[in-house]
Amino acid sequence: MGKELILGAFEEFLPNFISNTWHHPRSNTRDFATLPYWQRLVGAVEKAGFDFFFLAEAIGYPMDSEGRVPSAVVREAVQFPTHDPLTLMPAIAATVPRIALVCTASTTAQTPLLNARTFTTLDHISEGRISWNIVTSDHQHALVKILGLRDVTPHDERYARADEFVQLNLQLWEGGWEDDAIKYDKEAKVFFDPDKVHRIFFDGKYFNFDGFFQAIPSLQRTPTLFQAGTSKAGVAFAAKYAECVFTQDHDADRLKDTVIRLRAAVVEAGRPSDSLKIINCASFVVASSDVEATRVRQELWDSVTRESVAALFLGWAGVDLSALDPEDTLDNVSTDVGQTLLALRLNADGSSPTIGEVLDRLPSTMAGLSFTGTPQSIADEVERVVNLTDIDGFLVENIYSGGVEGYLDFIEQVMPELRRRGLLPNEPRTGSAREILTGSQGPQLPEWHPGVQYRHNASRGQSSGS
Ligand SMILES: Cc1cc2nc3c(=O)[nH]c(=O)nc-3n(C[C@H](O)[C@H](O)[C@H](O)COP(=O)(O)O)c2cc1C
Repeated sequence: MGKELILGAFEEFLPNFISNTWHHPRSNTRDFATLPYWQRLVGAVEKAGFDFFFLAEAIGYPMDSEGRVPSAVVREAVQFPTHDPLTLMPAIAATVPRIALVCTASTTAQTPLLNARTFTTLDHISEGRISWNIVTSDHQHALVKILGLRDVTPHDERYARADEFVQLNLQLWEGGWEDDAIKYDKEAKVFFDPDKVHRIFFDGKYFNFDGFFQAIPSLQRTPTLFQAGTSKAGVAFAAKYAECVFTQDHDADRLKDTVIRLRAAVVEAGRPSDSLKIINCASFVVASSDVEATRVRQELWDSVTRESVAALFLGWAGVDLSALDPEDTLDNVSTDVGQTLLALRLNADGSSPTIGEVLDRLPSTMAGLSFTGTPQSIADEVERVVNLTDIDGFLVENIYSGGVEGYLDFIEQVMPELRRRGLLPNEPRTGSAREILTGSQGPQLPEWHPGVQYRHNASRGQSSGS
């Protein structure tokens, strides 16, 4: 029997996502901007037993370093338009009661205080079910232009800035208020105990703060923390702060190496190796025979235009493959945007295919592991991959780029088989996001986490704001 996997639905608040298949007959994303569209979708995956619903975020859209936007961006809705994911979350929380809600917010675009306050508010509204996917943001070229930034912040410096951002957020969440600060004593006219509400001071290279945190502590205090980038700087960041990490390898052997790298970094950071839940992107196409499933899968990949997938890659990796010579290789190509995504284009032995080959393979490699077959053959392969790699779960791609249909075959045919084999729990996980996603015994940060030092009753010390 394998381990019980964590399952998430991979979405973004837009009409065409990673598979670029909005035009498929079974896709229906016309109403993506409406609440019923999302309530139906999240309701369906929750009912099926998924553990979490994840909304990615794009601030900006594919643009090259010269400011050119590929025509496919608007024509084929590639990361465009994109609505605000943080705004959607409370509406989902109010109507879908169990599932954990993971939302991206960018340390490049947000301010630490507003981010902390937003996530505390969301944690209250969702009764402890919110998680933060910490990103430094893709679409860096567009981001600079539309946010009015001076220039693209270099890759590793973005992570250094994110580090400070998170430190300040942790101080606000863990150190701003003591547990018993709320008195609500009408007779004495004391709502909050001033001795238990602490002024936070933070004097960093990128951020300063001097004041109170304006939101009362929520069930989790700190939302469950995700991160999604496995460059060297990304792994170091994940090892320090993340409780869950998204990976996107499309090859099981390479995923195994990624997991080894992540778990080694976690141990080096002084944490138990299984304290980081590693969740890889995965796409499932199921049919009554392996041959039929392969046919359907190929049809999906073939339906994607080269322009749209190249534009998606430009936005996420920062490299415009369509502007390069298709006979050339990636040997002299580097990026300051998505380093993992670029590295994943190399062959398993580290050699580079031609750019033309990279472009041909993009539809089949962007969504992580591809499982194609009957429910039984898929479950066999899932078992093999999980045993080989030691991953903890899957972030499941919507194979039609949106709408409930993109998960239905997986829900109806594959999940029962995975459950039968003990790869999914019999009963859905419940509780706070932290309990659902990490199996922790309570809703708040685990003891190994650096945020714990800011607690006022912490054995490891006091907040710098006390
Ligand atoms: C599953 C997954 C989800 C991601 N979600 C977002 C997102 O919502 N917004 C974003 O700007 N970047 C997102 N990213 C990109 C990463 O945060 C990161 O910027 C990217 O992988 C580059 O980091 P690296 O250079 O460390 O690899 C996501 C990546 C993965 C694998």
